[in-house]
Amino acid sequence: MASAALHREQPLPALLATESSVTAVDDACGVLVRLFALGRSVRAAALAAALPSLGVDGAVALGLVRLEGGRAGFGADRLGRTDRDVLPLCDLRPYGDDAHDWWVASDLSELAVGGPLRPDHVLGIGGASTTLASWTARRSVERALDLGTGCGVQALHLTGHVGAIIATDISERALAYAAFNVALNVALAASDGAGAIPDVELLSGDLLDPVAGQRFSLVVSNPPFVITPRDQDLPLYEYRDGGRAGDTLVRSLVRQVGTVLEPGGVAQFLGNWEVRAGRTWLDVWGDWLDEQAREGVALDAWVIQRESQDPAEYAELWARDGGAQPGSEAHSRMYAAWLRDFAARGVERIGFGVVTLQRPTTDRPTWRSLDEAHGPVAAPMGPTIDAGLRARTWLDEHSDDEVLDVAWSCAADVTEERHGTPGAEDPSVILVRQGGGLGRVVRAGTLLAAYLGVADGELTARVALDAIATVLGTDAADVYSELVPQVRDLVADGLLV
Ligand SMILES: C[S@@+](CC[C@H](N)C(=O)[O-])C[C@H]1O[C@@H](n2cnc3c(N)ncnc32)[C@H](O)[C@@H]1O
Repeated sequence: MASAALHREQPLPALLATESSVTAVDDACGVLVRLFALGRSVRAAALAAALPSLGVDGAVALGLVRLEGGRAGFGADRLGRTDRDVLPLCDLRPYGDDAHDWWVASDLSELAVGGPLRPDHVLGIGGASTTLASWTARRSVERALDLGTGCGVQALHLTGHVGAIIATDISERALAYAAFNVALNVALAASDGAGAIPDVELLSGDLLDPVAGQRFSLVVSNPPFVITPRDQDLPLYEYRDGGRAGDTLVRSLVRQVGTVLEPGGVAQFLGNWEVRAGRTWLDVWGDWLDEQAREGVALDAWVIQRESQDPAEYAELWARDGGAQPGSEAHSRMYAAWLRDFAARGVERIGFGVVTLQRPTTDRPTWRSLDEAHGPVAAPMGPTIDAGLRARTWLDEHSDDEVLDVAWSCAADVTEERHGTPGAEDPSVILVRQGGGLGRVVRAGTLLAAYLGVADGELTARVALDAIATVLGTDAADVYSELVPQVRDLVADGLLV
């Protein structure tokens, strides 16, 4: 309960649950949570017991904590008392995935400091970090780039499947945290006998500047994509605002990232995009990708819009993130600044989504897939992205005749729902539902339902459709022209494999 409340930014249950940890010498977890996640002091003796090999002096020397009243005497004060308070200097917590356990330090959260954040605040692991980590297609590759590494969380994930990793940031504080976290986890992996993890080279600079001329098979970035008004009254945080107006940072990443991709290389990032009056998000992406093809390296593009907000919803989200309480004067000022900024550019909606770009290995024309998926999706999503990239590329390179010559089968996570009015013999609606992946639900007509019923990997689509045409007494060519686009659509998203 306390952990769930913390995720809603309510520290009280966790503070109560760890009240006795302040002085406890037998509750390492409570002591560390209270100190490093809640940002509250504990007694030196309690910390000494929680960190038996590092000790309080070691934690002070590493810059993780400070002693109330200065450094003198470290764990004990001049009189040898060990009941001094220890205060945290950073957030430090365990984090991992199915295969890894890491520890990650970052700046103390707003909740812990109880006041406004510094402009160069180094963000801990948040919802956007875990979204990108989940959606990353984790192919084993030689070289990868984590652009805007922050505390280094994406770089840590890359250590599981990449030979050489470069991580960049414009913030020196972020690079220092990333260096600490990499060193800490390299050491932990060695001491746990988990095997060596590759080191991470850290470079400072703006967007792709530090890696100009280099090539990567994978680029990941959770960039500072938040659209922030250029208003002097607003706090600007490096972690969420890249110093550019509107959505130009994401747009320039789209335009330029191809220059650092190997043929066959993939770039994945999160972004926001502005949709102005009279336009759709598809128009916006059409323009961005045309611009990329004209001015940069043309890339295959798979963009999945996950959310679309109006300017007020967007302003409420980010004004709160700045620490201003709804109803306060500061909040109203920020809210109004966002609304004015969007109104000045005629912005009516702001899209959020996951962008996957792929550099073709040949000079074939590129493909585009602009999809919406607002519902729950598989976790992790990386395998879906990986399979979807391969499927889309295959479909692009093969004719309708070649699609017909494959013996497709329905994926194991696909089920069918039949809905009808009570008593009716035939269903009026047939829905085909994907259990994993993008969780797609497709309404199937008679032909598609009939085909999916026999798509078991034995018959080619052509043979199956010919048989269906014979049974229905229709022309096979008509069946092909209705069904091949639908088969392509289902193959692209993995409902047919
Ligand atoms: C949203 S944080 C992402 C941190 C981390 N990668 C994650 O996934 O949680 C964005 C990071 O980009 C950095 N950044 C901001 N502007 C940048 C720029 N122009 N070039 C490179 N990095 C930038 C920030 O300092 C911050 O560390």
